[in-house]
Amino acid sequence: MSATPHLKIDVVTIFPAYLDALRLALVGKSVERGLVEVAVHDLRDWTTDVHRTVDDSPYGGGGGMVMRPEPWWRALTDLVGEPPRISGSRTRIVVPTPSGRRFDHGYAAELAETDHLVFCAGRYEGIDQRVIDHWATDVISLGDYVLSGGEVAVLAMTEAVVRLIPGVVGNAESVIDDSFAAGLLEAPVYTRPDVIEGYEVPAVLRSGDHAAIGAWRRDQALAKTRERRPDLLPPAN
Ligand code: 6GU
Repeated sequence: MSATPHLKIDVVTIFPAYLDALRLALVGKSVERGLVEVAVHDLRDWTTDVHRTVDDSPYGGGGGMVMRPEPWWRALTDLVGEPPRISGSRTRIVVPTPSGRRFDHGYAAELAETDHLVFCAGRYEGIDQRVIDHWATDVISLGDYVLSGGEVAVLAMTEAVVRLIPGVVGNAESVIDDSFAAGLLEAPVYTRPDVIEGYEVPAVLRSGDHAAIGAWRRDQALAKTRERRPDLLPPAN
């Protein structure tokens, strides 16, 4: 017997095969366990012409192509009925784009508490703005670089969100200790053997002294954060 899924994720894309990876590893296992439901849809299924056209040239000129609004409109009407802003449902319609708000741990945690996520993975120069104005609740970027489409961003966001659903990660401690949840980067980790090619496991980790181990890890996390991500630390005055 499995629990009722408390999060449903729909992905709309013109490259459904990109999302095959959602069947693997932690997300795939969570689907099998009934903790989350994932459905990937081909945007072209909502086209009406024989060529299954999803793009057209931009008004006002300029390079590239724009995704036409009608297939998205039909897809979103089928998947959510009306915009969450109108229905008041705990549904989020997410459009990944480099011009969105930055995704981070806090944003992932917020999305993990909803009932229904619909990811609209665009290609080309983007989706007609009217789709975003009417439907989108969230316009999200992974960072300051450009991907050719939203699919890889959807994979990243889905993995970040699903691992925060209660019961998905066996060891709750490992989620709490993860980088960013604690506000610092993770301390380094080691396993057997004690020595490889002259590199030793730090003695404190083999000491059995849990207070000393805790202090060492905090110290390492702080040093690593200072070196690689000083922006995460309070200003040093
Ligand atoms: Cl969310 N989408 C695309 N296409 N490119 C990106 C991105 C998203 N985040 C960073 N670059």
